[in-house]
Amino acid sequence: MTFHNISVNLMFVFTLSAINFRCIAAATQRNETDMRALLEFKSHITEDYLAILDSWNDSSHFCHWPGVTYMWYQIPKSNSLESERKEIPSKLGSLSKLTKLLGSNNLSGSFPASLGNLTYLQELKLSYNQLKGKLPDSLSQMRSLTLIDLSVNQLSGEFPLPLYNLSSLKGIGLSYNYFSGNLRSNIGDDFPKAEKINWGMNSFTGTFPDSFANASNLQILDLPGNNFTGNVPASLGKVKNLRWLNVNGNQLGSDEPDNMNFISSLANCSNLQYLLLAHNHFGGMFPNSVTNLSTLLTGLHMGQNRIRGNIPKEIANLVNLNILYLQENRLTGSIPASIGILSNLGTLNLDSNRLTGEILSSIGNITRLLYLYLSGNTLNGTVPQSLGNSKQLLRIYIGENNLSGIIPGQLLSLTC
Ligand SMILES: *[C@@H]1O[C@H](CO)[C@@H](O)[C@H](O)[C@H]1NC(C)=O
Ligand SMILES: *[C@@H]1O[C@H](CO)[C@@H](O)[C@H](O)[C@H]1NC(C)=O
Ligand SMILES: *[C@@H]1O[C@H](CO)[C@@H](O)[C@H](O)[C@H]1NC(C)=O
Ligand SMILES: *[C@@H]1O[C@H](CO)[C@@H](O)[C@H](O)[C@H]1NC(C)=O
Ligand SMILES: *[C@@H]1O[C@H](CO)[C@@H](O)[C@H](O)[C@H]1NC(C)=O
Ligand SMILES: *[C@@H]1O[C@H](CO)[C@@H](O)[C@H](O)[C@H]1NC(C)=O
Ligand SMILES: *[C@@H]1O[C@H](CO)[C@@H](O)[C@H](O)[C@H]1NC(C)=O
Ligand SMILES: *[C@@H]1O[C@H](CO)[C@@H](O)[C@H](O)[C@H]1NC(C)=O
Ligand SMILES: *[C@@H]1O[C@H](CO)[C@@H](O)[C@H](O)[C@H]1NC(C)=O
Ligand SMILES: *[C@@H]1O[C@H](CO)[C@@H](O)[C@H](O)[C@H]1NC(C)=O
Ligand SMILES: *[C@@H]1O[C@H](CO)[C@@H](O)[C@H](O)[C@H]1NC(C)=O
Ligand SMILES: *[C@@H]1O[C@H](CO)[C@@H](O)[C@H](O)[C@H]1NC(C)=O
Repeated sequence: MTFHNISVNLMFVFTLSAINFRCIAAATQRNETDMRALLEFKSHITEDYLAILDSWNDSSHFCHWPGVTYMWYQIPKSNSLESERKEIPSKLGSLSKLTKLLGSNNLSGSFPASLGNLTYLQELKLSYNQLKGKLPDSLSQMRSLTLIDLSVNQLSGEFPLPLYNLSSLKGIGLSYNYFSGNLRSNIGDDFPKAEKINWGMNSFTGTFPDSFANASNLQILDLPGNNFTGNVPASLGKVKNLRWLNVNGNQLGSDEPDNMNFISSLANCSNLQYLLLAHNHFGGMFPNSVTNLSTLLTGLHMGQNRIRGNIPKEIANLVNLNILYLQENRLTGSIPASIGILSNLGTLNLDSNRLTGEILSSIGNITRLLYLYLSGNTLNGTVPQSLGNSKQLLRIYIGENNLSGIIPGQLLSLTC
């Protein structure tokens, strides 16, 4: 059985400025059904300015029609002069063999139920549009989907139920919409193949499902700017390939001593590069277990929480750290001298804590430092001359401390 894989770029419908219809060379057998679908599609296109569709006729195989090669189709950019908003033509649902449908084109209206007929569709990217409302139930028929990206739209309602039926999904992008409500507790079991989950900047609530750990291929779990509460489950340590965990801007954590126990289990995620926990309710003592995280860790954001205690000197284990944000917590003690070992650090933000003692000269060993934020503490002594070694420094904030003495000449132009 031959599959004629077609994909459509919706923008074509509107301007015909770029047509990307292609046929897979192997799939060149004539299929009347596909041809009729294309002709039917053609009959609904009213803005064929370039008259390209004239050559979509019986005189040649549809795979040789201009723009049709691969059988995938990308919607060209909308003409900015067009004032009227465009909707996704529901007729696209008749291109039954489509495999990819792409369009970031300010499309408005709702998601047409007929797209559910595209049961061969593998990729659906409709991010950066103005699609509104709920996703239709028919979406659950799109069993071949491996990637759905609906980020940056105005979709709303609970987590779209039809997605739960699509167990082949590897990438699920729903960021920057108005989705709300709780995620179902076994959500990780519903998406066993998930690699990238981007659901940030919505209004999801409830606890952070333990079952994400069952999506064992997860690399990116990006859930910032929601309203998740409770703890991050320690089970995430089972997700060996996790590279990016972002829960910034939720209501996770508590003042219970064990509220950051999950960090010790993340030590098993040997590819972890970003751990973003800022602007939550994490409390208790500084989790020394961060010093056991992968040495690939590049970004650690723990700012805007209520974490107490000292910054451990073993933080220097994280030799690839580029960004360390610990600002607006309740950290005490001094800045460990070992911080100078973190030679890849570009941004160090320790603002608005309760740090004491002196700024040690080892800080000048961080030669790649670009931004240094130390204001709003009770640091005393003088600013070390060695900071002049950090030749790339762009900004240094040291106000609201108990520092005295002279600011090294090289830094004078930088202090704010
Ligand atoms: C053409 O596609 C239709 C719909 O999928 C299918 O039923 C039919 O068998 C195909 N015909 C050929 C010749 O491949
Ligand atoms: C049909 O398409 C061919 C090119 O594929 C073109 O030369 C011909 O003029 C078209 N026929 C009609 C009736 O438009
Ligand atoms: C999108 O549509 C809105 C409302 O019609 C319009 O103001 C805006 O300029 C459009 N943006 C683009 C990129 O076409
Ligand atoms: C496509 O889907 C819609 C709604 O889901 C349905 O009403 C319609 O009959 C379908 N069309 C085809 C050609 O299958
Ligand atoms: C989707 O899954 C639910 C159960 O989770 C099932 O009842 C429903 O029939 C499925 N829908 C489709 C279209 O397969
Ligand atoms: C989270 O909940 C609070 C209080 O219920 C509300 O004010 C806030 O807007 C919510 N944030 C999001 C991102 O939904
Ligand atoms: C993960 O999957 C296993 C086996 O399918 C199941 O027993 C367990 O409850 C699941 N864990 C979570 C947290 O859902
Ligand atoms: C890390 O993995 C090992 C072996 O897979 C396991 O025994 C250990 O409990 C895990 N540690 C954590 C902290 O999850
Ligand atoms: C770091 O990991 C080692 C080995 O698993 C363990 O013995 C030690 O207690 C951990 N340190 C912290 C601070 O969690
Ligand atoms: C900083 O560099 C100096 C000179 O290279 C060296 O003696 C010192 O041990 C370094 N300190 C740290 C904390 O890396
Ligand atoms: C800085 O403050 C500590 C007490 O927090 C004090 O022991 C130390 O002498 C002070 N250093 C300077 C240079 O004032
Ligand atoms: C800051 O320094 C002043 C005098 O230099 C001293 O009176 C004050 O107690 C110091 N504050 C702290 C919090 O150490």
